[in-house]
Parts: sequence; C-alpha cells; structure tokens
Amino acid sequence: MTTTPDSVLRPLRIGPVQLRTNLVLSPMSGVTDSAFRRTVQQASEDAVGLLVSEFIAVEGLTRANAKTTAMMRFDATERPISIQIFGADVERMAAAARMVEEAGADIVDINCGCPAPKVVRRGGGAQLMRTPDQLREILRAVRAAVSIPFTVKIRSGWDDSARNALDVARMVEDEGAAMLAVHGRTRVQLYSGLCDWDLIAELRRRASIPVIGSGDIVDPQTALSRLREGYADGLMIGRGAIANPWIFAQTRALARAQAVVAATPAERVQLLSFFRRALDEAKEERAYLGRLRGLGCCLVKGFAGGAAARRALGAARSADEVETVLRQFMLEGRRFDERFAEVA
Ligand SMILES: Cc1cc2nc3c(=O)[nH]c(=O)nc-3n(C[C@H](O)[C@H](O)[C@H](O)COP(=O)(O)O)c2cc1C
Repeated sequence: MTTTPDSVLRPLRIGPVQLRTNLVLSPMSGVTDSAFRRTVQQASEDAVGLLVSEFIAVEGLTRANAKTTAMMRFDATERPISIQIFGADVERMAAAARMVEEAGADIVDINCGCPAPKVVRRGGGAQLMRTPDQLREILRAVRAAVSIPFTVKIRSGWDDSARNALDVARMVEDEGAAMLAVHGRTRVQLYSGLCDWDLIAELRRRASIPVIGSGDIVDPQTALSRLREGYADGLMIGRGAIANPWIFAQTRALARAQAVVAATPAERVQLLSFFRRALDEAKEERAYLGRLRGLGCCLVKGFAGGAAARRALGAARSADEVETVLRQFMLEGRRFDERFAEVA
C-alpha cells in the first residue's frame, strides 16, 4: 500500500454506494440517533464517510411500533446512511430490511455483535454467530427482499473457545454481503480486554469485500496508524466520536500531514447548541437532558477546571442551564468550585 498523504483515507465502495472516506461512525444504541449523527457531521463534515444508525429491533419495526419506527428517521443531509437492524426471525428480518429500503436508507446492516442478554436470549445479536445456519437463512431472505446493499457487523466470536469470525465472514461474503464490520472482541469480553486487530487484519486479507475494523480508535493517531499498517479497509469509530466529534476531521488532517487542531472554545459552545437544536428538531425526548449534559462534559475534558465544570454541567437542571454553564466556562472564563458555585 502506498502512503502518500491522504492515500490511506480514501473513498470506499459498498456495493453501488460510494463513501467519501473509509471512516465510519459506529452504530451505538442510545447514541447514534439522527441528532447525534448530524452533530458528528457538523463537526467532521465530509471526513465521515458513512453514518450508521443505532440498532433497531425488527420485532418493533414489523409490528409498527411508533417509537421503533421513529428510530429509522434520518435527515436528508445524512448521506450515505446505513440503518442497522437486529433480530432472529427470518421473515421479520427480511420485512424490516424492506422497511429500511422504503425509508430511503442507502444500506441495511445486520447486527451480529450485540452482547446484551435480552438480545442474545432471543437469538439475535452475537447469538447469530453461534447459529450460522439461522444467520445464512436471514441473509438469504434479506438479500431477496431488498435491492440496496446489505452489510453485516460481527464480533470476533462468542468467547475464547469459539472465535469463529473467519468462518462467519466467509459465509457472510458468500451470501452476498457488500461489507463486513468487525468489532475485535468476543461477546463474553463485552468491552473489556484487548481488541484483536490481528484477527481483523486476517479477515481483511481473506475477504474480497471491504472489511471495516472497530475497536478502541480513540484518537486520530490511532486511526491513522491502523489504516497505514493495513489492518482494515476502513475504520468504525464509536466511543472516540462521543468523546471527540471532531475525530474524523482530525484524522483526515493528520492523513494530509496537516496539524491536528483541537476544537476552539467557541466551536465547542456552538456544537452543543447545534446538538440541542438537532434534538429539538428530531423531537427527541429520550434522555434529553442527560445527553446534553453528556456532550457538555466531553467538551470540557482536558481544560483546566474541567472537572469542576463537569460537575456543574451534571447538576444543570435544564437545557438552558447546560448551555449557560458551557458558555460561561468556555467563553467567559468562569470557574466552578466543588459546590458548583462561581469562584472567579
Ligand atoms: C453505548 C454503545 C452502544 C452500542 N450500540 C451498538 C449497536 O447498536 N450496534 C452495534 O453494532 N454495535 C454497538 N456498539 C458497539 C460499537 O459499534 C463498537 O463496535 C464498539 O464500541 C467498539 O468500538 P469503539 O471502541 O470505537 O467504541 C455500541 C457500543 C457502545 C459503547
């Protein structure tokens, strides 16, 4: 692979869908709704090549549950977009994939990695890696149901004694998936221990479809080195994008041998306001205040006095108060003491 500036950060094709870059926002339940995806886009612009929804239950979608159906909504600016579904029932998976296509998504993604007991107990998520025949049937039904490309996201396996990602990957590719994403941990590991990037690299070597690696891309330097060292065709970034929504743009800057510039205080204040407006526009009520506080807390990290500001943000009782605390801290030099009172 050549390493001219920017060359590792390249457009990627997922079937007929052209991605601007090979950096993908990871699907994250309770996080990557439309408001958050737009916020990441606002921060990183077209450096983020693909947005992926949080996982959506096919049981709810196919029973026309209003809240589940609302989770499929996306803004016209969110392109290209992949909607991830989870479940185990073959017919419902196919019907839900059709609904994703009808909703106008570019890609439908099948979740085979969720470790949550309530998901795996019902045969979905990571459990599908233990039931490859069931997974094959699902993939065939989905393939027959839609004309948009389908992709699959897996883990390295169930546990150390069942690290079967290589077998599952071959089957997924044979059944016509246009891309494979791999979180390099087993189901039993959850989010602990090391992410197995050597396995991701092995999957990439063997596959003829793009392999996207996921796990612990916490900063632009890590992102770039994973790409430069050829571990994957592209990267998914999850928690790193929660902590730093500018991470995609910063990775691109680094790939172009430009300086990585941290977001300014004013940009941080603006991004929080953008997120609030996006939540309002999407009429997103789930954990509204908690999510605003959460982004606020990420935005003050690393600043002197940030710990006390985080406590003040955590104690804010309204969206206005969250915005005010951040603005005062970032732009007016206000500092907060242990009891959240002004000290200077
Ligand atoms: C809060 C949270 C929610 C997640 N929800 C999903 C999900 O809905 N679907 C999915 O495939 N993976 C989900 N994941 C896994 C991530 O997509 C990703 O593979 C994993 O966090 C490792 O990447 P990271 O270290 O960049 O976060 C979730 C992870 C987190 C932290």
